[in-house]
Amino acid sequence: MPKLFHLVCSPRAESESLAGARVFLAHFQKARPDWDIDEMNLWRDRLPEFDGEILQAKYARIGGRGFTDAQRDAFAVAERMAVRFSLAERVLISTPMWNFGIPYKLKHWIDLISQPGLTFRFDPTRGYLPLVEDRPTLVILASGSDFVTGMNRGRTDMASPYLREALRFVGVRDVRFVLIGPTTGPGEPIQAARESAHRRLAELAAWF
Ligand SMILES: Cc1cc2nc3c(=O)[nH]c(=O)nc-3n(C[C@H](O)[C@H](O)[C@H](O)COP(=O)(O)O)c2cc1C
Repeated sequence: MPKLFHLVCSPRAESESLAGARVFLAHFQKARPDWDIDEMNLWRDRLPEFDGEILQAKYARIGGRGFTDAQRDAFAVAERMAVRFSLAERVLISTPMWNFGIPYKLKHWIDLISQPGLTFRFDPTRGYLPLVEDRPTLVILASGSDFVTGMNRGRTDMASPYLREALRFVGVRDVRFVLIGPTTGPGEPIQAARESAHRRLAELAAWF
């Protein structure tokens, strides 16, 4: 069964990014009823700290050394997470903007799955090479300010360029962003931004 992997990155029950994802998925599932939706909620699933044996395993790989038993066991957790992502034909990431970037849980997940021999490799002559096959990927990014029209009072969106680069590094280049914002402030612009994003997400879902 083909699979869409959905990474939920907001802890909020009233999350705008998750509400956008629900609109997208409702239309997606109508168009492809046979697809499996694999949802990983970064605030419910336990992510291991990236220290100790798992960290040493990464450095062992980089240094071309074999794993100890403890490193192999620790690395297996990252392996399972990377495989869950890399086996999906489609990827959906619904995330808030936090302090101009991404929430730390999403950065934590990226730190766990970005591993040599798993999602990228290093070749002394060719440099870093991605190991994940490209696949259509959608990022729904909700922000308190309006980063859609540029009315963000001079602040910079560092979440989109960071995510684009982190995904590209492991091989995923086919990435689209749908921004939802403003999500705070006066009601009318919030409603207009939500409606516009939901329209775009419904359109996208029909062919994504
Ligand atoms: C810790 C934190 C940091 C935030 N930083 C920003 C920010 O830098 N820029 C912005 O526009 N909104 C910021 N916001 C507002 C959120 O982006 C906004 O509430 C958004 O709707 C959150 O996504 P969600 O509704 O999916 O949870 C921040 C919110 C929190 C809780």
